[in-house]
Amino acid sequence: MSKFENSEWAEKKHAKNFMENANIYVLERQRLLGILRSFYRYFSSSMSSEESIKVLDLGCGEGVLTLELLKENDQIKATLIDGSAEMLKNARENLNNYNNINFIQKTFQQLIEDGSGENILTDGFDFIVSSLAIHHLYNGEKKSLFQYIYDNLNSGGFFLNIETVKAPTNELESWYRVIWKEWIQENQIKLDVKKSFEYLPEQYKNNPDNHPDTLETQLNMLKSIGFKQVDCYYKYGIFTIFGGRK
Ligand SMILES: C[S@@+](CC[C@H](N)C(=O)[O-])C[C@H]1O[C@@H](n2cnc3c(N)ncnc32)[C@H](O)[C@@H]1O
Repeated sequence: MSKFENSEWAEKKHAKNFMENANIYVLERQRLLGILRSFYRYFSSSMSSEESIKVLDLGCGEGVLTLELLKENDQIKATLIDGSAEMLKNARENLNNYNNINFIQKTFQQLIEDGSGENILTDGFDFIVSSLAIHHLYNGEKKSLFQYIYDNLNSGGFFLNIETVKAPTNELESWYRVIWKEWIQENQIKLDVKKSFEYLPEQYKNNPDNHPDTLETQLNMLKSIGFKQVDCYYKYGIFTIFGGRK
C-alpha cells in the first residue's frame, strides 16, 4: 500500500507552496470550480429541502471546494478530510465563519482500512467531492476508495472528482503536457506573475507520488461498483471532471 507519510504532501513546505500558487498552474482552475458549482446547483435542486445537504470533501486541502459549495448554499453540512495537518489548519481558518463544518485528519489509506471495520463517518452524504488528490493512490487503492465513497453516499447522491488522468497513449500524454504548459504561460501573463511555473507539467510526469490511471479505467471502476450516470463531465488535456450517481 502507498503511504501518505512518505509523500510530499506530508511536508508543510509542499502544502504551503500549493496553496500559494495553485491558481497559477492548475489548468483552468476557476472553470473547474465553476462547473462544480453548476453541478451542485443543478442536482441539489432535486434533493429534499427538509434536511441540510451533506457534503464530504476528500483531500480537501485548504477547503476550496467546500467554500465554493457554501457560496451556493451556506446551510450545507460539510465534512472535510485530509491527511495533512497543515492543510486542515488552513481549511479551518478559511471556513471559520460557517457552522456545521467537521474536520478530520485521516489519510485515504486509513479510510480504506477503516472501510472494512468501524466507519468513522456516521452520516450518509448527498455529495462526495474531491479535487486533485486521489491520483496519489495506486490503481487498486483507488478502486477501494471509490467503493468506500459509494458505501457512504445516500441513495441518489453524487460523487464528483476533479482529477488528473493518464492519457491513453504516450503521444497524447506528451501533447497534453504541452497544452498544460501553454496554458500556464498564458495565465502567468494574465495574472502578471513574475515567477515561472512552466516546468510543472514535466515535474508532474516525473513525480513518484503521482499514480494517475486513464479516464476509461476509472470510469469502468465506478460502473463496476454500481455507480449510475458515470461520465466525464469535463476534460482539458489531463485535467478532467468525472463521477457518478448512486
Ligand atoms: C493538490 S492538493 C488539492 C487540495 C484541494 N482539493 C484543492 O483542489 O485545492 C491534494 C490534497 O490531497 C491531500 N492528499 C494527498 N494524498 C492523500 C492521501 N493519501 N490521503 C489523504 N489526503 C491526501 C493532500 O494533503 C492535499 O491537501
